[in-house]
Amino acid sequence: MSQEHVNLAPVQLGPIAVPTPVILSPMAGVTNWPFRVLCEEYGPDGLYVAEMVTARALVARNPKAFRLCRFAPSERVRSLQLYGVDPVIMERATRMVVDGGMADHIDLNFGCPVPKVTRRGGGSALPWKLDLFSELLRRVVAVCQPAGIPVTAKIRVGLDADHTTFLEAGRIAQEEGCAAVALHARTTAEYYGGHSDWERIGQLTQELSIPVFGNGDIWSAEDAEEMVRQTGCAGVEIGRGCQGRPWLFRDIANAFAGSSERVEPTLGQVGQIVARHARMLVEFYDGDEQMAVHDIRKHVAWYLKGFPVGGFTRRAFMECESLEDLGAQIALLPQDEPYPESVAAKPRGRVRYAKKVHLPQGWLDSRQTTHEEREALFGDDPMDASY
Ligand SMILES: Cc1cc2nc3c(=O)[nH]c(=O)nc-3n(C[C@H](O)[C@H](O)[C@H](O)COP(=O)(O)O)c2cc1C
Repeated sequence: MSQEHVNLAPVQLGPIAVPTPVILSPMAGVTNWPFRVLCEEYGPDGLYVAEMVTARALVARNPKAFRLCRFAPSERVRSLQLYGVDPVIMERATRMVVDGGMADHIDLNFGCPVPKVTRRGGGSALPWKLDLFSELLRRVVAVCQPAGIPVTAKIRVGLDADHTTFLEAGRIAQEEGCAAVALHARTTAEYYGGHSDWERIGQLTQELSIPVFGNGDIWSAEDAEEMVRQTGCAGVEIGRGCQGRPWLFRDIANAFAGSSERVEPTLGQVGQIVARHARMLVEFYDGDEQMAVHDIRKHVAWYLKGFPVGGFTRRAFMECESLEDLGAQIALLPQDEPYPESVAAKPRGRVRYAKKVHLPQGWLDSRQTTHEEREALFGDDPMDASY
């Protein structure tokens, strides 16, 4: 099957040129600088977004939040994602980032479907409240714009099929001065289940004059091309597809450059990438080797996906406590084992539906927040506890 080559035009986000708008989607616990460095080394001059940082934790100068804000010297654009519900706290966190010269681009999280977040009106629940959404964007953009820092918003389709928010949210983001919008084309209720509805990405692309980045279910370079072909989106944002596969960014860059060349590392080569990823994680964790080796476990499960590696070996990796243990396991892998092409482009990571959408009491009654609602929302943020 030979499809026509799909072109991806450069995108300008404020002063930042994105020559090939292929974006690493922010993923908590995954897209810290060691993983971003790997993706960017393979990938084009795109955007590689850090995992979300809670505005409150930043304002409270929580050291773990600051760790998430670190970038490697090699990173071309420092993209930070902020999460928060209270526009005033978000403004203060943004002020810290801007005054501290901590980032070149700020992405805002309105896509998180996790109950502890949506129950507090955060993440994907927030765009339902139009006044709150607008105010939050306005305050953040007002701090960023004079400093030449573009702001983007990452949204979902809505809460569920009967409560979609993406068209209005996209319009508001554009009006409030966002440089682009990324749409994960699922509702909160869909969580990570089924397939994202790319038609919605096409709809939003039609609706807005700012760039729309399409997100959801890009597992291969061909998927990335197909999303652009189907929707006309200005860029593609990749989440789970690159877990344990940072070289997917090379495949995608190749595809958009008209090349059918794909990266297919042997198991030995994958082992070397795991070892390097782990060494960088040690640096990320300020020399705490055990934390790094514990963190790499989930990545190892993704890196080994599809390779004929038995349960005994996989368990042995999960029991590693040091770089030495990890190196010993890597050395035992059959080095010449070829890349398992058949499973590489299949879904990986989270794939389930939500049991129920959790929202604050009475959330759906109105598209505006009441004074009482704001009082209740801006109290303690449970996300602080996650650090
Ligand atoms: C483990 C994990 C962590 C995530 N963390 C974040 C996050 O911090 N911020 C965010 O906006 N989205 C987050 N997401 C959502 C992804 O960025 C992305 O929108 C979603 O996975 C859909 O894209 P995909 O089908 O390419 O994975 C996360 C997803 C996963 C699987």
